[in-house]
Amino acid sequence: MASAELGSSGALLRVLALLLLPGAAPAFKPASIGWSPSSTVRGTLTASDYKTLYYTQKTDHFGFDEDSSFKQRYLLADKYWNKDGGPILFYPGNEGDIELFCNNTGFMWDVAEDFQAMLVFAEHRYYGQSLPFGADSYADSKHLNYLTSEQALADFVVLIRFLKESIPGAGNSSVIAIGGSYGGMLAAWLRMKYPDVVVGAFAASAPIWQFEDLVPCDSFYDIVTNDFTKSGNGCSQSILNSWNAINRVAVTDEGIQWLSSTFHLCCPLQGKDDIGYFKSWLTETWVNLAMVNYPYEADFLQPLPAWPVQVVCKFLSNPSLDDKTLLQNIFQAINVYYNYSGNTQCLNISQAATASLGDKGWSYQACTEMVMPFCADGVNDMFEPQPWDFKSYAEDCFKQWGVTPRLTWITSEYGGKNICSHSNIVFSNGGLDPWSSGGVTKDITDTLVAVFIPEGAHHLDLRFRHPDDPESVVRARELEIKYMKQWLRKTRSSL
Ligand SMILES: *[C@@H]1O[C@H](CO)[C@@H](O)[C@H](O)[C@H]1NC(C)=O
Ligand SMILES: *[C@@H]1O[C@H](CO)[C@@H](O)[C@H](O)[C@H]1NC(C)=O
Ligand SMILES: *[C@@H]1O[C@H](CO)[C@@H](O)[C@H](O)[C@H]1NC(C)=O
Ligand SMILES: *[C@@H]1O[C@H](CO)[C@@H](O)[C@H](O)[C@H]1NC(C)=O
Repeated sequence: MASAELGSSGALLRVLALLLLPGAAPAFKPASIGWSPSSTVRGTLTASDYKTLYYTQKTDHFGFDEDSSFKQRYLLADKYWNKDGGPILFYPGNEGDIELFCNNTGFMWDVAEDFQAMLVFAEHRYYGQSLPFGADSYADSKHLNYLTSEQALADFVVLIRFLKESIPGAGNSSVIAIGGSYGGMLAAWLRMKYPDVVVGAFAASAPIWQFEDLVPCDSFYDIVTNDFTKSGNGCSQSILNSWNAINRVAVTDEGIQWLSSTFHLCCPLQGKDDIGYFKSWLTETWVNLAMVNYPYEADFLQPLPAWPVQVVCKFLSNPSLDDKTLLQNIFQAINVYYNYSGNTQCLNISQAATASLGDKGWSYQACTEMVMPFCADGVNDMFEPQPWDFKSYAEDCFKQWGVTPRLTWITSEYGGKNICSHSNIVFSNGGLDPWSSGGVTKDITDTLVAVFIPEGAHHLDLRFRHPDDPESVVRARELEIKYMKQWLRKTRSSL
């Protein structure tokens, strides 16, 4: 498996690498949940909804030695755009194929007509088709040297300038950045660093404070645990008990074989060393379930039923069973995540989410700039105790990528909590989303505002409208639209 080259705490690193998954689910399945798409409710896009275009970017915006360039992919939809002053809603792509974010940011498609807006989705360098050195982009740390958030933001700024200069009428269009998760962090940072380029930013589920000691390192896993505790009696306690059950079963080779067959693993666990990977894959599965705990059937990381954590918890109501019975129930529970479609032959512990995500690239980013401390204690949360240990984290990074992470760079570059001099950013967060741990959940000033969605998982508000949306997300979107319109009005009146 890919992660086998990691060191002792490699398991932890692997979890981190996959955590910052992007947006909401692609197409849900209207037919299966008993409603039909109408002019106001839509759930899918087709390729004819947008144009796929490419722009030649400098590989290095900040130095003059590296003179190469590459093609950045972007998607553009102008069906509703009013050439006479209509705005541009700009999605700064995150760590994956830009089509994934385009498909999953229904909010932008839902508001395009009302705003008479052009939509642009720009791919993040080193992901999807936007590879600075083609197939060699990930060859070594030399080729990866230009994978930073600063370079990505510079790409977006250069692209916006090009669009405004080259598209007739766009020169007068105000630009609003909209993004989710890491894309939301980029949207917020775009506004902070380049306020003349974007008039405002809507940053959904953007954990801009998940760095250094800005938030406690255990709050992320606490939120995951709360989701399971609230979703069924005995649920989080069963998961907590499962770790020692695994440890006890795995003391014998026969027990390890039993785990492999009980969990229908594609590749049997090869002895004790694999137990760590197995447990981190389970951890990742619980985290992902919490992230996509949406109120209706959806298909983002995996196809899932409505409120999937409740469905999972039905199998985990009794925490005090013997080890093997408990673990059989754990299998039933994770099979909701991996086999809701009924088409899964076996479970692959190297894979916990869609292949459209660039988990390799994110692993590199986590090993350079994006150092996010996480920890668990097994008391206030349902995970095995896992202290935050920067030293071993850094050693793993060096082993894997030949680079040393810079723990304090992001807060130096983007200001940490000292951002009150900025303006026009809406930060939205969901109460069910583990990433709300590092998000801005209280207003900072009149124009740096927080929108909180108690029933929301990972940027639920960015998804297409849906009949089963909780009232809180409907209200949140209304507020977000209100703020965006305010920014546009203010900009127009100051011209
Ligand atoms: C996005 O949606 C289009 C149209 O439904 C589909 O062809 C494409 O595979 C989707 N891409 C991703 C990455 O989800
Ligand atoms: C901006 O709008 C003004 C007034 O409507 C117009 O004269 C000008 O040509 C426009 N500029 C661009 C770049 O479209
Ligand atoms: C997935 O579900 C199908 C249908 O219920 C079943 O035949 C198959 O064995 C399941 N796969 C796993 C890995 O459990
Ligand atoms: C398991 O997932 C990994 C990573 O995506 C992939 O390379 C491998 O082929 C998969 N193995 C099986 C048996 O499906």
